[in-house]
Amino acid sequence: MTRKLLISPSILSADFSDLGKEIEAIDEAGADMIHIDVMDGHYVPNLTIGPMVVKAIRSRTSKPFDVHLMISPVDYLIDPFIKAGADYISIHPDAGPHTHRTLQAIKAGGAKAGIVLNPGTHPDVVDTLIEELDLILVMSVNPGFGGQSFIHSQLNKIRILADKIKSSGRDIILEVDGGVNPDTAQLCIDSGATALVAGSAVFKGQGNYKENILALRKKNTK
Ligand code: DX5
Ligand code: ZN
Repeated sequence: MTRKLLISPSILSADFSDLGKEIEAIDEAGADMIHIDVMDGHYVPNLTIGPMVVKAIRSRTSKPFDVHLMISPVDYLIDPFIKAGADYISIHPDAGPHTHRTLQAIKAGGAKAGIVLNPGTHPDVVDTLIEELDLILVMSVNPGFGGQSFIHSQLNKIRILADKIKSSGRDIILEVDGGVNPDTAQLCIDSGATALVAGSAVFKGQGNYKENILALRKKNTK
């Protein structure tokens, strides 16, 4: 099944001193979803956003919140993030003891569920979870920071996962996160990605967000 390419700007690269305005600006610039990177200083060596901040920015856009949880343990924060306004919640399979149960909890709370594969994670991890999934997120950098370089070996994994989604017959978004710029975006799409997260490539240059988002799409529509 073909779906529209979704662009999900990562607010990790936004100006945190003016977060509300930044959200409005990327909404206006054509973002399809808003990617929110939640880091706990434990699962990854960086500390970012909690449910209170998600709740505070919820009123600034009606676009779906695509919440990427890089936290361990993860279960106790599922409900607070759903209550704060998360639409998609993606978890790392090694973040909690019972991944399948966590995915079910996300769905029981009314959000859509995603699984995140680090560069070192084998694609077969989705095989026993696929019935629960609305989204698969392939990390093309090691999680923790924005502005890193795209790891090209992940392209083959994107292809494998696109095949798995196709054979499942399910409507699952295949999203790529890390080092996505207009050039690597093209490689991701060619490999079967249907959604792209981009932080530095969207937020670079004051006020150029529309142009930056278009640049990610343009190469992919030729
Ligand atoms: C990394 C985060 C990414 C990051 C992407 O752990 O999951 O979402 O913000 O940033 P760029 O696009 O700058 O690589
Ligand atoms: Zn992310």
